[in-house]
Amino acid sequence: MFGKTVNRELRTKNHLLALESSCDETAAAVCSLDGTLRAGRVASQVEIHRQYGGVVPEVASRNHILHVRPLVEAVLNDAGITLRDVAAFAATSGPGLVSSLLIGTSMAKALAVAEGKPFLAINHMEGHLLSPFMGGNGPVRPCVALIVSGGHTMLVRVHDVGRYELLGRTRDDAAGEAFDKVAKMLGLPYPGGPEIDKLAANGDPAAFAFPRSFLDGRSLEFSFSGLKTAVLYERPRLDLTREQTLADVCASVQAAIVEVLVEKLVLAARKARLDLAAVSGGVSCNRGLRAALQARCTREGIGLLLAEPALCTDNAGMIAFAAVQRFQRGHTSPLEADVDPNLPLA
Ligand code: KG4
Ligand code: ZN
Repeated sequence: MFGKTVNRELRTKNHLLALESSCDETAAAVCSLDGTLRAGRVASQVEIHRQYGGVVPEVASRNHILHVRPLVEAVLNDAGITLRDVAAFAATSGPGLVSSLLIGTSMAKALAVAEGKPFLAINHMEGHLLSPFMGGNGPVRPCVALIVSGGHTMLVRVHDVGRYELLGRTRDDAAGEAFDKVAKMLGLPYPGGPEIDKLAANGDPAAFAFPRSFLDGRSLEFSFSGLKTAVLYERPRLDLTREQTLADVCASVQAAIVEVLVEKLVLAARKARLDLAAVSGGVSCNRGLRAALQARCTREGIGLLLAEPALCTDNAGMIAFAAVQRFQRGHTSPLEADVDPNLPLA
């Protein structure tokens, strides 16, 4: 956890330190004020929560407390800076688990007070939304954004930083939740998305005709609960001890989710008359989704920005980047700013 890459030349006050603790990952990152990620670390709790088949909030919160301070020290060390070189501190203030959010925000506020620097409360979904613009893909510009995570699936029209218009969201399960729930039915470990991704690589995506819920065809809303039910009904007929059967089910489930996501994104871009799409969130790691997006967007003449795989799942780099965008536009948050488990993006 304490790797060292010290570069003394980067020692200036032009840095922002951000913390992310909305769910079960504790993360810290340092960004330069030009938006370049200098250091980022994630202390994963996935092994701890796997034994329960999902995240246990109390356990997550206690582990955030254990990890947060060593992580701050580690990223400062990685970036080759000290607290004196930080111009502002940020943390995710929602949406997420209250007991988890409180750890990161309390730490960031405490650092801000101790150093006499501003604090910024950042929306976790804005972190995901802007992450495709990291790594030299900036500046942030108008686009249609698809955010696909474990808790959310939404299409957003981005006018500028902080100017977002919700175009559609899921009516029931999020895409990541659908991956996770189906994986659980198939006896795969939590989190199920990466497991399905791996197994799907050797399967036939046309083996099972699982439903694609397009709703009324022109709708930008999503629904994944029918897919879950279809897999549940199919399960008694399946011999999941057969490797090929399991791979075929995974490939077919993935194909159903991917097709809906890709088609709705293209529809949203057409409706909004935008030729740039930005895709982010844990599910955007999925190799099937990335390949399908590349192919379809190329055919449609839509530019595609995909978050780097390491920045798709929860991390603090994306929170630092979003905070830098806001800080550069003169935004800061009051220290009284509370956490909000249901914080809306738009
Ligand atoms: O964005 P994220 O890390 O956390 C939330 O904010 O929810 O997303 C986690 C979700 C989980 O549902 C996980 O199964 C899914 O992202 N996920 C994937 C893949 N990697 C993570 N889903 C499909 N394929 C993947 N490779
Ligand atoms: Zn997330």
